[in-house]
Amino acid sequence: MLSKIALKLFLILFLSSQVLASNLIDLPPPKLKGEMSLEEALSLRRSIRSYSKEALSLEELSQLLWAGSGITEPRRGFRTAPSAGALYPIDIYLFVSRVSGLKEGIYKYLPKEHKLEVVRLEPVLRRVYEAALWQSSIFESAVVFALVAFYDRITWKYGQRGVMYAHIECGHIAQNVLLQATALKLGAVPIGAFREEEIAKIMNLPSGSEVIYLIPVGKLRH
Ligand SMILES: Cc1cc2nc3c(=O)[nH]c(=O)nc-3n(C[C@H](O)[C@H](O)[C@H](O)COP(=O)(O)O)c2cc1C
Repeated sequence: MLSKIALKLFLILFLSSQVLASNLIDLPPPKLKGEMSLEEALSLRRSIRSYSKEALSLEELSQLLWAGSGITEPRRGFRTAPSAGALYPIDIYLFVSRVSGLKEGIYKYLPKEHKLEVVRLEPVLRRVYEAALWQSSIFESAVVFALVAFYDRITWKYGQRGVMYAHIECGHIAQNVLLQATALKLGAVPIGAFREEEIAKIMNLPSGSEVIYLIPVGKLRH
């Protein structure tokens, strides 16, 4: 009797761990050396709003995510972008349309694990495009980065000032993504004009969070 209960318990634990594990997607490790210098990337970065229909590779996506919020000092969890008090109030979400090896849907980047977590698998680009005031850069993109602030993580320490700090950090992350996109010869543009509540609804975000920036990315047209 006892062994039957133990077996059932084991099966439940095993199956639930499999379900949880299948919710996570490994990303290729980021490269720490590239083909373009920082100076070149700074001089070449331009807002690009039209892209080819080609898919992004998982390597390219991984590199962009790492540039935005990747861990560069595992012991203390420090990242590519600075953060007030190392409290990291910004998470990167993705609206994926065309990335090799990924289904269309919403994903969240987990910096510590350098993995993606599946949030929801369904095409959402049309809704994001409408919420972003029908900007064609969104519609043509292979993936849209959504930088989301979770204010509680920072306002407990810095009060109202923490809101400003979160916005500043968002700019750091966005610039890292944009420069990395340039270095990978991809097109990208930072988007501030969108209906926040509508995007938050699509993502099912909890109250106390806010979508600050959208960054559509795609392959350059030849
Ligand atoms: C806070 C912010 C919001 C922006 N919002 C949009 C936007 O909604 N749509 C867009 O096409 N470009 C947007 N841009 C990009 C600017 O239009 C662009 O940076 C500017 O024209 C200068 O061009 P450059 O980025 O190529 O240097 C935004 C830029 C910033 C910094």
